[in-house]
Amino acid sequence: MSAVDLSTRLAGVALRNPVLLASGTCGYGAELAPFVDLEALGGIVAKSLTLEPRAGNHPPRISEAPAGMLNAISLENVGVEAFVREKLPALAPGVTVIASVFETEIERYAEVCKRLDGVGRVAALELNASCPHVKSGGIEFGQDPKVLASLVRACRAATTRPMFVKLSPNVTSIAEMARVCEGEGADAVALVNAVQGMLVDVHRRRPVLRNGLGGFSGPAIFPIALRMVYQASRAVRIPICGIGGIASGDDAVAMLLCGASAVQVGTVSYTNPRAGLEVRDGIEAYCRVQGVHAVRELIGALRAWDPPELA
Ligand SMILES: Cc1cc2nc3c(=O)[nH]c(=O)nc-3n(C[C@H](O)[C@H](O)[C@H](O)COP(=O)(O)O)c2cc1C
Repeated sequence: MSAVDLSTRLAGVALRNPVLLASGTCGYGAELAPFVDLEALGGIVAKSLTLEPRAGNHPPRISEAPAGMLNAISLENVGVEAFVREKLPALAPGVTVIASVFETEIERYAEVCKRLDGVGRVAALELNASCPHVKSGGIEFGQDPKVLASLVRACRAATTRPMFVKLSPNVTSIAEMARVCEGEGADAVALVNAVQGMLVDVHRRRPVLRNGLGGFSGPAIFPIALRMVYQASRAVRIPICGIGGIASGDDAVAMLLCGASAVQVGTVSYTNPRAGLEVRDGIEAYCRVQGVHAVRELIGALRAWDPPELA
């Protein structure tokens, strides 16, 4: 039987297969390289970068949660300069690297984009729009369409690289947010980031995380993420990268059928560092069983009920 063609494209970036590792769950790649052949993946999205290094929140900042995890790491990272100088060169040349950008002010986001613009090893930029915007009173960038539009516009002007915008799920209309990104020149949208959550230690009567609230991720959020990918794909023409709770090849295939061109695997890597590779193998196995020759045939190929569903 002939091999399945797993290649896909996202915002003009050619990927050898649709499986990327999600930002914040694979460090800068080198940490995982002894255990996982990163060149066998579609690529990695490195930990979000700020202009200066950040220490992040005090522990406890991570906890197990029902069917997932809760984190409030608050974007600890080495800063953009150290990433370019030390982290990128440590990766094998065949690893496709997407840099994630995060800041607390629009001008600073744009500056990080500018500093990454000429860096050859960076295949694309992913704007993490899920952090609180100081000037907007702490509301996430991705929660206010006007703020999101200003962010995407400023970053678009700062970089010529393919640019994805990673959307927050903590919104009423994901379709509206995706449309804003498309309107401001984003090349793709990636969705979703973690869902806001909380856990309480009832014995101590205090939040489990020192920060109180955190981002909830892992298999429990998969149906929410899938729904959002489906809604966004019906709202925009730019490609979509599906993220949220993906733990198997079938999960990834569901994302592709709902309109994603690629996917990212996150939390499940903490219990199984090889999860990304297993998701890739699962997609390939699905294609073989279904007689699908190229994974691209699956993108948006969800079938409607007859008569059509009510939603
Ligand atoms: C510990 C941890 C750290 C994360 N750090 C980042 C980050 O730096 N930037 C970002 O865009 N997303 C970050 N995320 C969100 C993930 O990239 C992903 O969007 C989210 O966890 C949902 O996918 P999952 O359920 O497969 O993990 C982080 C998630 C976790 C669990």
